[in-house]
Amino acid sequence: MSEFLSAMAFRHACKQFDTEKQIPEQEFDSLLEVARTSPSSFGMEPWRMIVVRKPALRKALKSACWNQAQITDCSELVIFTTDNDTVRSGTVYVRKMFERRGLSAEAVDTYMGVYKNYLEPIECDEVLLENWTAKQCYIPLANMMTYAATLKIDSCPIEGFDKESVEAILDLEYGRSVAVICAFGYRVNPQSEQKRLDLKQIVEYR
Ligand SMILES: Cc1cc2nc3c(=O)[nH]c(=O)nc-3n(C[C@H](O)[C@H](O)[C@H](O)COP(=O)(O)O)c2cc1C
Repeated sequence: MSEFLSAMAFRHACKQFDTEKQIPEQEFDSLLEVARTSPSSFGMEPWRMIVVRKPALRKALKSACWNQAQITDCSELVIFTTDNDTVRSGTVYVRKMFERRGLSAEAVDTYMGVYKNYLEPIECDEVLLENWTAKQCYIPLANMMTYAATLKIDSCPIEGFDKESVEAILDLEYGRSVAVICAFGYRVNPQSEQKRLDLKQIVEYR
């Protein structure tokens, strides 16, 4: 089996982390690097990650996350947040993200126009905008989890949380929201058998 497929088989949603085992700093940095280099729509990189290490903050978050033990027991807790106002069409941030490609001024203006056309029906609704930026976060999330598995690091993606409570606990500024959470560390128990639909149930050829 290829290393990638072995990692896919190794990864599972780890429910119980070993509280005694810490991810080496260098390996955790490499997970963050995998997130950083992940692709995003229009290259806007709307994600901002908060690594929660303070035990008191972890404890407060746990109660807002369905009391899931992974929040306090994991080695590293990553909260994917998004800066929604930053990526609205016409912002300085968006222009800079296009300018960094080394395009001509005309080409940047063209990109700004295409981006505006794409985003206008999304950004007119705060929830749609939040959903669009949150969707981008699942790309680094998935990349990090699979890469972690290659290093025999376990993970658990977490959507089971009260968004407003988590945002209040983190004291996020207006326009910033929580997309998804991921716990990283080392398993205590062996993983259970992977349950998945068959390919023929999920793929059709037309
Ligand atoms: C976006 C997302 C959110 C999830 N949220 C939670 C969660 O809050 N708590 C939890 O224990 N598992 C959570 N899971 C894990 C899934 O339940 C799990 O991945 C799925 O049942 C398949 O099992 P496996 O990953 O162990 O193969 C989440 C998974 C994904 C992809």
